[in-house]
Amino acid sequence: MISTPRFRPRNLLVTGGAGFIGANFVHFWLGRHPTGRIVVLDALTYAGNRSSLEPREPDQRLRFVHGDIGDERLVGELLYDEMIDTIVHFAAETHVDRSIHDPDDFLRTNVIGTHALLKAARMAWLEDPRTATGEHRFHHVSTDEVYGSLGPSDPAFRETTPYAPNSPYSASKAAADHLVRAYHRTYGLSTVTSNCSNNYGPYQFPEKLIPLTLVNLLHGKPIPVYGDGQNVRDWLYVEDHCRGIELCLLDGAPGETYNFGGNKERTNVEVVRLLCATLDRWFASKPDLTRRFPDAPRSAGRPSDCLIEFVRDRPGHDRRYAVDVGKAERELGYRPVETLETGIERTIAWYLDNEPWWSSVMDGSYRRWMATNYAGSQGLDPTEPRRY
Ligand code: NAD
Ligand code: TYD
Repeated sequence: MISTPRFRPRNLLVTGGAGFIGANFVHFWLGRHPTGRIVVLDALTYAGNRSSLEPREPDQRLRFVHGDIGDERLVGELLYDEMIDTIVHFAAETHVDRSIHDPDDFLRTNVIGTHALLKAARMAWLEDPRTATGEHRFHHVSTDEVYGSLGPSDPAFRETTPYAPNSPYSASKAAADHLVRAYHRTYGLSTVTSNCSNNYGPYQFPEKLIPLTLVNLLHGKPIPVYGDGQNVRDWLYVEDHCRGIELCLLDGAPGETYNFGGNKERTNVEVVRLLCATLDRWFASKPDLTRRFPDAPRSAGRPSDCLIEFVRDRPGHDRRYAVDVGKAERELGYRPVETLETGIERTIAWYLDNEPWWSSVMDGSYRRWMATNYAGSQGLDPTEPRRY
């Protein structure tokens, strides 16, 4: 029997590669694939930071391009000049709370931007005789939030679960997923979509639950828990997500979608309490933390969980997410490595070792970006509790 040679990605365009998961993916991929190049295309919004790529720069195999995925001409030139055969598309507006306050950017980047990228890929890989070699892959990184909210005993999301997005963020991601599907079915673009649960780990901007809790605990600021804190999320350490995307690139079938998750459902208050308890142990065993973080409750002998504050709920707050990863396990051999406990330990270790990263992204890019984009409107300070 003659087997068809498998697609092997060589030169990758990573959109949103200065963001949380994108930067982790760049480090992960370059560390494991000694040949080929990565071009990062990133607009450097408040969530994108060049410093997240610094451990790799300068690296002959990595080029950073400051630009917008909506710039079709720029994307077309990059695909041609850099002989790109693979797009890994992370770029997006990603924070649900911000999508509730200001949905426009979510439609502009997540829907229109994704469509511009698809058009440029179609032009380069299917229509331009100089670049249309037939060997290409468009990997679209999406979220489990497109499936909506589960009841306590509902089965976990499968790839066949109907879409029912509830926030402007998840609605914009759902629209992008549909466009990716349409470009495969209509034009024959070789696409794969992955829908993943909540990620955590290094380089995550401290506006999402885990890094926000961690940074607030260290600074002695309140930890805002929305509603009754009983909303359930499935948590995945970011490196395990990168592993899943790598498997899709190497073995995923064109036109398919794969769900990734960590099989670690927890209520929000459980996650926050786990962070508090783990940090309390770190403070007990490392006396220099008291010197470095004098405002942390542990430095005054109080338990970290004294900072928990239940605040008004997020509107339309999805109650439960859970992901069935059976398809990825069977077809790709996917299996997450970290437990929530080991992943949290690694995350805390990284944030304690990289205080300059998070203090500079919070003081610098975020505030500059807010001043430019939200002058006069109700900006969200990531370190303050949300007020709906
Ligand atoms: P992030 O917010 O940390 O980073 C997004 C990056 O995209 C930033 O670097 C930003 O500068 C860049 N960007 C935004 N708009 C752009 C534009 N128009 N052109 C070019 N670059 C632009 O996001 P993340 O948490 O790393 O998420 C990455 C992807 O993974 C997103 O598509 C998200 O929907 C998906 N996802 C995230 C999670 C999670 O828990 N974080 C879970 C599942 C799926
Ligand atoms: P988040 O990290 O924003 O991710 P997502 O909304 O994409 O799931 O939030 C995770 C959960 O934590 C979600 O149920 C909302 C809740 N949450 C809080 O209770 N307090 C907070 O300050 C934040 C940011 C989130």
